[in-house]
Amino acid sequence: MKEIFITGATGFLGSYVLDHYLRETNLRISVLTRAASRQEGLEKLWKALQIHQDASTFWQLQDRVEIVSGDLTKPRLGIDDDQYDRLVKGAESILHIAASLNRKSDKACLNHNLKGTLAVLKLAQAARDHHGLRRFSFVSTTAIAGKRDSETLTEDEAFDWDRSDYDPYARTKKFCEHMVRELLPDVPKTIFRPSTVMGDSRHPRSTQFEMVRAFNAVFSMPVFPVRPDARVDICNADWVGKAIFELHRKPAQHDCYHLSAGTASPKAYDIGQAMARLGRRPPRMVPQLFGATQMGFDLIAGLRQRNTLTYIGSLFKVFLPYITFDTVFDNTRAVTELGAAPASFLDYGPPFAEWCRSQNYRYPYLPFPERPAVVAVPSDGARA
Ligand SMILES: NC(=O)c1ccc[n+]([C@@H]2O[C@H](COP(=O)([O-])OP(=O)(O)OC[C@H]3O[C@@H](n4cnc5c(N)ncnc54)[C@H](OP(=O)(O)O)[C@@H]3O)[C@@H](O)[C@H]2O)c1
Repeated sequence: MKEIFITGATGFLGSYVLDHYLRETNLRISVLTRAASRQEGLEKLWKALQIHQDASTFWQLQDRVEIVSGDLTKPRLGIDDDQYDRLVKGAESILHIAASLNRKSDKACLNHNLKGTLAVLKLAQAARDHHGLRRFSFVSTTAIAGKRDSETLTEDEAFDWDRSDYDPYARTKKFCEHMVRELLPDVPKTIFRPSTVMGDSRHPRSTQFEMVRAFNAVFSMPVFPVRPDARVDICNADWVGKAIFELHRKPAQHDCYHLSAGTASPKAYDIGQAMARLGRRPPRMVPQLFGATQMGFDLIAGLRQRNTLTYIGSLFKVFLPYITFDTVFDNTRAVTELGAAPASFLDYGPPFAEWCRSQNYRYPYLPFPERPAVVAVPSDGARA
């Protein structure tokens, strides 16, 4: 059975990709996770997948999943020697999604993103040397574009060594892209750059809440320092997950794709009006207050005591540039190859934002389900 090695499958975005692999292929899927045992790994998978699958589907599809206990920050990914050797000999492709999204920590980004990606690349090199790797894909981010002001960027324009970054997350992901290109010159590669991924166009639920929390706070404020016509590039997770799945599988035409709303991105004014459907009064948009607001949030975020106020201050400090920089990422390549565009946040965003708030930004996780005595084999015939 052919095998794919995926990192980050237990995360928000990775769970969308894994769900596609489980339902639509018959590949064996090895999943890296920081779990001390197979049971702990399965519990993490259930937590990630329950937004996509009920308990019976979960158990029907689990037999093709190999839990690989490990850690990006450890030598040889912290994987035991037998399993590492098996991956080197068996992986026909690698999809590296895992990362630290901690925009405030140089240390976390250095260790998880830079050191971690280097370790995944070494595994990829060993697999390439052993039998040739069909494809290596890396999930990056449009944040690699660095500090920008009112631009529309293609994949080639977004990467610019001479530009400063907003945070260590952006900086380390940018260097990861460079490492992927430098260290696997002879392997077919794809770099995916999602923009801000928020919500699912099919239902108003999510397991990731930080950005939507910031959005809810922004659009509940009386005044916000953004130009009304500033565009905000937000993309639905179901489209991004499907794009990563499809483009990793096929012989892609490009080595890099923006997974973004691009020129269809909504303007801040329109988002305010859409949120007003929830009965909120849209904030007055006063861009002149940007500097003062940023200073205020920096001050609050830096306070020694930790409480809701400092948490909100930290959220704004990291997300403010991305909400206000009016820069969008051309998605023509991905839309053309997939034959489908992302959904409009103006349509699915308001009920989604409301659901998140009503849940107090916590997913109502179901407990780990008992494995049934007899597990039904999927009847629809998964495809390779
Ligand atoms: N969400 C967005 O809006 C967005 C936008 C643009 C790009 N991206 C990119 O998409 C990718 C996934 O993001 P996400 O939002 O899904 O993140 P997430 O929900 O925080 O998931 C992170 C994943 O990475 C794994 N991971 C983190 N540190 C690890 C380590 N030291 N060792 C092994 N695994 C580790 C976690 O696995 P365990 O906890 O199971 O170990 C988890 O599966 C990232 O590369 C991110 O840069 C996300």
